[in-house]
Amino acid sequence: MKIIIINGPNLNLLGKREPTIYGDSSFEDYFKELEKKYKKIELSYFQSNIEGELIDKLHEVGFSYDGIIMNAAAYTHTSVGIGDAVKAIETPVIEVHISNVHSREAFRHTSFIAPNVKGIISGFGLKSYELALQSFL
Ligand code: DQA
Repeated sequence: MKIIIINGPNLNLLGKREPTIYGDSSFEDYFKELEKKYKKIELSYFQSNIEGELIDKLHEVGFSYDGIIMNAAAYTHTSVGIGDAVKAIETPVIEVHISNVHSREAFRHTSFIAPNVKGIISGFGLKSYELALQSFL
Protein backbone atom coordinates (compact mmCIF):
# COMPACT_ATOMS: atom_id res chain seq x y z
CA MET A 1 0.00 0.00 0.00
CA LYS A 2 1.39 3.37 -1.07
CA ILE A 3 0.46 6.36 1.07
CA ILE A 4 1.87 9.87 0.94
CA ILE A 5 1.66 12.65 3.48
CA ILE A 6 1.60 16.09 1.85
CA ASN A 7 2.18 19.11 4.08
CA GLY A 8 1.61 22.70 3.06
CA PRO A 9 3.09 26.05 4.06
CA ASN A 10 4.89 26.67 7.34
CA LEU A 11 4.64 23.04 8.41
CA ASN A 12 8.41 22.74 7.80
CA LEU A 13 8.66 24.79 11.01
CA LEU A 14 6.84 22.25 13.20
CA GLY A 15 8.59 22.02 16.56
CA LYS A 16 9.60 25.69 16.38
CA ARG A 17 6.37 27.30 15.25
CA GLU A 18 3.77 28.27 17.88
CA PRO A 19 4.46 25.15 20.01
CA THR A 20 1.42 25.76 22.23
CA ILE A 21 -0.77 25.12 19.16
CA TYR A 22 1.36 22.78 17.03
CA GLY A 23 3.51 20.95 19.60
CA ASP A 24 7.27 20.75 20.02
CA SER A 25 8.36 17.89 17.78
CA SER A 26 9.51 18.30 14.20
CA PHE A 27 7.57 16.55 11.48
CA GLU A 28 10.70 14.68 10.41
CA ASP A 29 11.00 13.06 13.87
CA TYR A 30 7.31 12.19 13.91
CA PHE A 31 7.52 10.77 10.38
CA LYS A 32 10.42 8.49 11.41
CA GLU A 33 8.23 7.09 14.21
CA LEU A 34 5.39 6.46 11.76
CA GLU A 35 7.76 4.67 9.36
CA LYS A 36 8.99 2.44 12.20
CA LYS A 37 5.48 1.64 13.39
CA TYR A 38 3.97 0.99 9.94
CA LYS A 39 6.78 -0.89 8.21
CA LYS A 40 4.47 -2.66 5.78
CA ILE A 41 3.21 0.57 4.24
CA GLU A 42 5.20 2.36 1.56
CA LEU A 43 5.02 5.71 3.27
CA SER A 44 6.42 8.91 1.80
CA TYR A 45 6.39 12.56 2.77
CA PHE A 46 6.40 15.82 0.82
CA GLN A 47 6.32 19.39 2.11
CA SER A 48 6.20 22.65 0.21
CA ASN A 49 5.46 26.27 0.94
CA ILE A 50 4.52 26.79 -2.71
CA GLU A 51 0.94 26.27 -3.86
CA GLY A 52 1.83 25.11 -7.39
CA GLU A 53 4.29 22.51 -6.07
CA LEU A 54 1.55 21.04 -3.89
CA ILE A 55 -0.75 20.86 -6.94
CA ASP A 56 2.02 19.24 -9.04
CA LYS A 57 2.55 16.61 -6.31
CA LEU A 58 -1.18 15.83 -6.18
CA HIS A 59 -1.13 15.32 -9.99
CA GLU A 60 2.00 13.14 -9.76
CA VAL A 61 0.69 10.72 -7.12
CA GLY A 62 -3.05 11.09 -7.59
CA PHE A 63 -3.55 8.30 -10.15
CA SER A 64 -1.26 5.63 -8.71
CA TYR A 65 -1.11 5.89 -4.91
CA ASP A 66 -3.62 4.24 -2.57
CA GLY A 67 -4.07 7.22 -0.30
CA ILE A 68 -3.08 10.83 0.31
CA ILE A 69 -3.02 12.43 3.74
CA MET A 70 -3.00 16.18 3.19
CA ASN A 71 -2.51 19.06 5.56
CA ALA A 72 -2.71 22.00 3.16
CA ALA A 73 -2.26 24.31 6.18
CA ALA A 74 -3.21 27.93 5.34
CA TYR A 75 -3.95 27.00 1.69
CA THR A 76 -6.86 24.90 3.00
CA HIS A 77 -8.71 28.15 3.58
CA THR A 78 -7.71 29.99 0.39
CA SER A 79 -6.81 27.69 -2.47
CA VAL A 80 -9.35 26.98 -5.20
CA GLY A 81 -6.44 25.42 -7.14
CA ILE A 82 -5.67 22.78 -4.51
CA GLY A 83 -9.40 22.12 -4.06
CA ASP A 84 -9.74 21.57 -7.83
CA ALA A 85 -6.68 19.29 -7.89
CA VAL A 86 -8.13 17.12 -5.10
CA LYS A 87 -11.32 16.89 -7.15
CA ALA A 88 -9.42 16.04 -10.35
CA ILE A 89 -7.42 13.07 -9.05
CA GLU A 90 -8.54 9.50 -8.35
CA THR A 91 -6.62 8.67 -5.16
CA PRO A 92 -8.71 9.30 -2.03
CA VAL A 93 -7.52 12.22 0.11
CA ILE A 94 -7.94 12.65 3.86
CA GLU A 95 -7.70 16.25 5.06
CA VAL A 96 -5.86 16.60 8.35
CA HIS A 97 -5.13 19.44 10.73
CA ILE A 98 -3.01 19.38 13.85
CA SER A 99 -5.18 21.93 15.63
CA ASN A 100 -8.96 21.93 15.84
CA VAL A 101 -9.57 24.52 13.11
CA HIS A 102 -13.21 24.90 14.17
CA SER A 103 -12.25 26.16 17.61
CA ARG A 104 -10.05 28.88 16.08
CA GLU A 105 -10.60 32.04 13.99
CA ALA A 106 -13.61 32.08 11.64
CA PHE A 107 -11.40 32.17 8.50
CA ARG A 108 -10.10 28.71 9.45
CA HIS A 109 -13.64 27.27 9.35
CA THR A 110 -13.67 27.35 5.53
CA SER A 111 -11.98 24.59 3.54
CA PHE A 112 -11.73 24.55 -0.26
CA ILE A 113 -10.57 20.95 -0.03
CA ALA A 114 -13.25 19.48 2.26
CA PRO A 115 -15.99 18.98 -0.38
CA ASN A 116 -13.83 16.47 -2.27
CA VAL A 117 -12.06 14.52 0.49
CA LYS A 118 -12.91 11.16 1.98
CA GLY A 119 -12.90 12.61 5.50
CA ILE A 120 -11.40 15.20 7.81
CA ILE A 121 -9.37 14.74 11.00
CA SER A 122 -8.67 17.89 12.99
CA GLY A 123 -7.47 18.65 16.47
CA PHE A 124 -5.53 15.60 17.64
CA GLY A 125 -2.06 17.09 17.34
CA LEU A 126 0.40 15.12 15.20
CA LYS A 127 -1.68 12.04 16.04
CA SER A 128 -4.17 13.35 13.41
CA TYR A 129 -1.82 11.94 10.71
CA GLU A 130 -1.70 8.50 12.30
CA LEU A 131 -5.50 8.41 12.63
CA ALA A 132 -5.75 9.18 8.92
CA LEU A 133 -3.23 6.44 8.15
CA GLN A 134 -5.18 3.93 10.20
CA SER A 135 -8.35 4.78 8.32
CA PHE A 136 -6.60 3.78 5.06
CA LEU A 137 -5.57 0.39 6.52
C1 DQA B 1 -3.32 23.83 10.26
C2 DQA B 1 -4.44 24.83 10.56
C3 DQA B 1 -4.39 25.97 9.55
O1 DQA B 1 -5.45 26.88 9.82
C4 DQA B 1 -3.08 26.70 9.66
O2 DQA B 1 -3.01 27.72 8.69
C5 DQA B 1 -1.90 25.81 9.58
C6 DQA B 1 -1.95 24.49 10.21
C7 DQA B 1 -3.24 22.71 11.33
O3 DQA B 1 -2.62 21.69 11.03
O4 DQA B 1 -3.79 22.85 12.43
O5 DQA B 1 -0.84 26.19 9.08
O6 DQA B 1 -3.60 23.20 9.02
